[in-house]
Amino acid sequence: MIWNGDVKKILYGGDYNPEQWGEDVWEEDMRLFRKAHIDVVTLNVFSWASLQPGEDVYDFTKLDKIMDLVSDNGLKVCLATSTAAHPAWMARKYPDVLRTEHNGMRRKFGSRHNSCPNSPTYRKYSAALAGRLAERYGNRGNIVAWHIANEYGGECYCENCEKAFREWLKERYGTLEELNRAWDTAFWGHTFYEWEEVVVPNLQSEEFYWGDCIRTNFQGISLDYRRFISDSMLECYRLEEEAVKKYTPWIPVTTNFMGFYKGLDYQKWARSMDFVSWDNYPAYGAVPEQAAMAHDLMRGLKQGMPYVLMEQTPSVSNWHTYCALKRPGVMRLWSYQAVAHGADAVMFFQMRRSIGACEKYHGALIDHAGHENTRVFREMAALGGELEKLGDILLEGRSKARAAIVMDWDNWWAAEYSAGPSKLIHYYEELLAYYKAFYRLNIPVDVISVEDDLSGYALVTAPMLYMCKDGFDGKLRKFVEGGGFFLTTYFSGYVEDHDLVVTGGYPGRLKDILGIWVEESDALPEGEGNRFLYGGKEYRAEILCDLLHLQGAEALSVYEEDFYAGMPVLTAHSYGKGKAFYMAARSGDDFYEEFIKDLCEEAGIRPIMEAPQQIEVTMRENGNGKFLFLLNHGEDTQEAVLPCGGEDLLTGGRYGKGEKLRLGKKDVAILKVLTE
Ligand code: GLA
Ligand code: ZN
Repeated sequence: MIWNGDVKKILYGGDYNPEQWGEDVWEEDMRLFRKAHIDVVTLNVFSWASLQPGEDVYDFTKLDKIMDLVSDNGLKVCLATSTAAHPAWMARKYPDVLRTEHNGMRRKFGSRHNSCPNSPTYRKYSAALAGRLAERYGNRGNIVAWHIANEYGGECYCENCEKAFREWLKERYGTLEELNRAWDTAFWGHTFYEWEEVVVPNLQSEEFYWGDCIRTNFQGISLDYRRFISDSMLECYRLEEEAVKKYTPWIPVTTNFMGFYKGLDYQKWARSMDFVSWDNYPAYGAVPEQAAMAHDLMRGLKQGMPYVLMEQTPSVSNWHTYCALKRPGVMRLWSYQAVAHGADAVMFFQMRRSIGACEKYHGALIDHAGHENTRVFREMAALGGELEKLGDILLEGRSKARAAIVMDWDNWWAAEYSAGPSKLIHYYEELLAYYKAFYRLNIPVDVISVEDDLSGYALVTAPMLYMCKDGFDGKLRKFVEGGGFFLTTYFSGYVEDHDLVVTGGYPGRLKDILGIWVEESDALPEGEGNRFLYGGKEYRAEILCDLLHLQGAEALSVYEEDFYAGMPVLTAHSYGKGKAFYMAARSGDDFYEEFIKDLCEEAGIRPIMEAPQQIEVTMRENGNGKFLFLLNHGEDTQEAVLPCGGEDLLTGGRYGKGEKLRLGKKDVAILKVLTE
C-alpha cells in the first residue's frame, strides 16, 4: 500500500488552498467536495510565508483550522511542507536563498521554486519547518503522505553552488589529476591546478547559445553540473524527509515529479522516495502515447510499484500557449489512463480557482462561478462516483511486461550536450518513436533504468544509448548470452560515464554484442533522407545514417541510395542464446511498428489483444484478478474483439471471449477477466 492508513479505494482529490480564501467559503467547499466524492486534499503547498512570518516566529493557527475542517469532514490529507517558495523576509535577510541564473544574474525575491539548493539558510529553515509540521500534525490519523516542497526543478549558478560543486567534485574524483583526465582538460589548455579554479559552467564560462539550445565547450563539466544540481536538490529533499521521518516514520514521503523532466535524475531520486507521484499536463497537441510513456516511466522508477497521479488539470492549464478545454470525457479518459498504467490515486490541481495572480484561469473543480452547475464539476463528480463504486478492486495492481525500453538521464544530458553530429538529435523523440510501436501493438513495455534487473525481459531496447555506462555493457552481454533480444540504434555506445569517447570504433563497448562496427555517420539535414527495404516495403532513413561493417552480424536491410548504397542499415547478430539488433538510422513510425512486431514475435512476446488504433490497451493484475483496460482516444465509436470473457467494472456489462465490445468516443472499459 502506498498510503498511510486505511485506504480502500483510488483516492480522489487534489491541491486545496483554503488559506487563499475567507473562511466563509470553507463550508461550501466541503459541501461541494462531498458532492464530487472528493476524499483527499493536498494542503499547505505554498504557505511558508504565513506559517513562518519571521525568523523566530511560527504561526499554525490557520493551518490548525484547516486541518480541523478537513478532518471533521472525513477527508484524507496529503500534507505538503510548503518549502517550494521562500518567504519575502528570508530573501531580504538572507540573500543566499536567492538563485543565480544561467547568465549570472542574481535574482531578487519573486516567483516560486526559487530557492538556491545549496543555500545554508534554505536548507536549515526548510528542514526546520518540515520537522515542526510533522511534530504538530503527525499524529492526526488522516495524513496519508508527506508531500515535500513542490515540483523540484530549475538550477542555480551562485557562489554557494560553485563552492558546493567543488566539494561534490572532490568527492567524485578525489584528485585534480583525475578531474583533469575525466574532463579531458588537455583540450584547449583547460588544465586546473587548484580546485578554486573550477567555476560553474554557464554563459559566463563554458556554455553558450546555439540557436535556442544551450551548448557547451566542455561536455564533462556541464554534464557533471547537471548531476550536481540534481544531487543538490535531492539533498534538500532528503533533509526534509529526515525531519518528517523523525516524528512520523510510518507516514510515506514523496514529492511530485513532472514526467520526462530533463533537469533531475528521477531514477536516482526515486530510491530515496517511499512512492512516486507525478503531475500530468500533456502539451497542447500531444498524442496519447506521450502520456502513456510518461506513466510507464513513473511506474518504472520504483520497479513497477503503483504510483500517484498527484496533479492534472480538470480542464484548462493557464500556462499553455492555447488554453484549450479538455473536451467532454477527456478528463475521465486521461484519469483512467493513469490508472491503466499503474496509478492508485487520481488527483488534480486544483479544488478551487484562485481569484488573483497567474493561475486564476487554471482549471479547478470549483471555478469562479462558485457553484456546481458547470460541465467540469459534473464530469468530476461523475468520475468521483465511479471511483467510489470501484472501491479497492484495482488497488496495487501490477503490469507485467516482457519488453523494456531503457531510459537514462546521464545519457539524455550527454547526448544532447554533444556538439554534433546533428541538431536533430533528441533523446526523448527517439524513445517515443520506439515506445509508440509497442503502444500501437498493445504490447506492454516497462521503461527501466540501466540499474534495473533485465532477467525478466525477453526484449530490451535501448534507443540512442549514446553513453553506455560502466557495467551496463556487461549486463547486456549476460542478458543476450542467456537468450535475451537486445536492440539499440545509431548514436549509441560512443562514450563512457564522463562523456569520453571509447576508442576502437563505435559503438564502443557494444560492438561485440552487436557484431558490427561503425566507421562514419552521415547527418542528413531536415527533410533529406536515404531509403531501405524491409519486409518488401520501403522506409525512410534519416537524421543520422551510420556507415557500418559487419563483424559477425548479418544485414537485414541495406541503404538504397548515395555512395553507401548496399551498406547495412539494420543488422542482427546471434550472440550466445540470444540476438542483438542494430538500427543504424532514424526511420518512421510505420517501420518501427513492423519491425517491433517481428522482433516481438521472434522473442515470443504476444500483444494483450488486437484492437483498433484509437483504442489503448493495458492490463493490471492483483490478488483480485486480472483487469483489462480499453481506452478509446479516438473521435468515433470503436469495436474490439475480446481475447477473454469478462465483466466491465464500470457498466456491469458481461462479455464472452471473442465477443465484440463497443466503446464510444473517449469512453473506457475495465474488464475483470473471467475466462481466458
Ligand atoms: C504545477 C504545480 C502547481 C500548479 C500547476 C498548474 O504542476 O505543481 O502548483 O502551478 O502546475 O498547472
Ligand atoms: Zn545556488
